[in-house]
Amino acid sequence: MVGVILSGGAGTRLWPVSRELYPKPFMKLPDGQSLLQKTFLRALRAGANRLLTVTGKEYYFSTLGEYQALETTVQSSFIVEPQRRNTAPAIAMAALWVAEQNPKELMLVLPADQLISPDVAFAEAVEQAQRLAQQGYMVTFGIQPSYPATSFGYIQRGETLQENAYKVSRFVEKPDKATAEDYLKSGCYFWNAGIFCFRADVYLQTLKQLQPHMYEAVLACWQATKKEDPIYLDAALYKQVPSDSIDYAVMEKAQHVAVIAAGFDWSDLGSWDAALQMVPPDADGNRVLGEVVLLETSNTFVQSEDRVVAVIGVSDLVIVDTRDALLVARRDKAQDVKKVVEKLTHIN
Ligand code: GDD
Ligand code: MG
Repeated sequence: MVGVILSGGAGTRLWPVSRELYPKPFMKLPDGQSLLQKTFLRALRAGANRLLTVTGKEYYFSTLGEYQALETTVQSSFIVEPQRRNTAPAIAMAALWVAEQNPKELMLVLPADQLISPDVAFAEAVEQAQRLAQQGYMVTFGIQPSYPATSFGYIQRGETLQENAYKVSRFVEKPDKATAEDYLKSGCYFWNAGIFCFRADVYLQTLKQLQPHMYEAVLACWQATKKEDPIYLDAALYKQVPSDSIDYAVMEKAQHVAVIAAGFDWSDLGSWDAALQMVPPDADGNRVLGEVVLLETSNTFVQSEDRVVAVIGVSDLVIVDTRDALLVARRDKAQDVKKVVEKLTHIN
């Protein structure tokens, strides 16, 4: 099985730490490892014997550096994109790379910006997924939803295939709030973890059938690309590839999709409120990273990178200090950092 690590999106919901030049996969956790390094190790522990990372040209060298710091001997290759075309084409390129050696080989597709634990439970779920993927299923991983999120895909469970594994009767990417509420109430929907397991040939055939235009464009680009190490995709032809996510382009429309009910903890760290849960709270509910002094403060998250941050007499805040930007937000408003990023993008 080839572990395919997707690490190309910018991710603006954790501004100022995650941004264009320093996106979420490079975020370091309190244990010193980045999300990217954790993903790399998770793929190995889940049974991948080769790794392939698909990433943008601006992230190639830093991604390589993260992996080298792990000092593993596993074969790790790269496909480098000249620009973003979202996940459906990125995965298609990976599938073409895998299929050149063995079209029936399994791929485990992993986003590089999630937190999963314990690795053992994840490996068990992947083992079960591999058996279904070998039979030709496109396998997804379902998370028990806890609130009506509108930033995730929803998977409706159908017929039982095995213990904890079901046919998917419906896949809906990012429904609106009212629909998400209905799904949550119905009790028969999972969140899509964004992790997939399938045979390379199954993904390519499905893409060809559902998105023939994208398939042809991807194939033309792959054929024109020089197969060096790393593989830099042909820029002129990659530009021609339509941009879409695997969720909209493939999973919403595909037949033969299965879901494994996840027996592991999962967070996509999609907001400060989710990310700060990584840090254990003190008796007053405060969570701190870096050099921080707190006085009469409660339920507040403070992260400092380079200098001492002192906080006095406040509660329910998120404070994130980096070398060139500072965020101070009410905790229940911290998801609005994406509006800050939009504003900043307009200014620049
Ligand atoms: N190489 C590459 N190229 N990677 C990309 C690109 C691209 O153009 N675009 C996105 N990615 C990477 C991101 O870095 C991330 O690791 C992963 O692919 C998923 O992309 P996101 O942009 O983060 O997707 P999402 O969070 O909106 O939605 C997906 O994940 C949710 C769970 O976190 C979907 O699969 C949802 O259905 C799912 O619930
Ligand atoms: Mg995401």
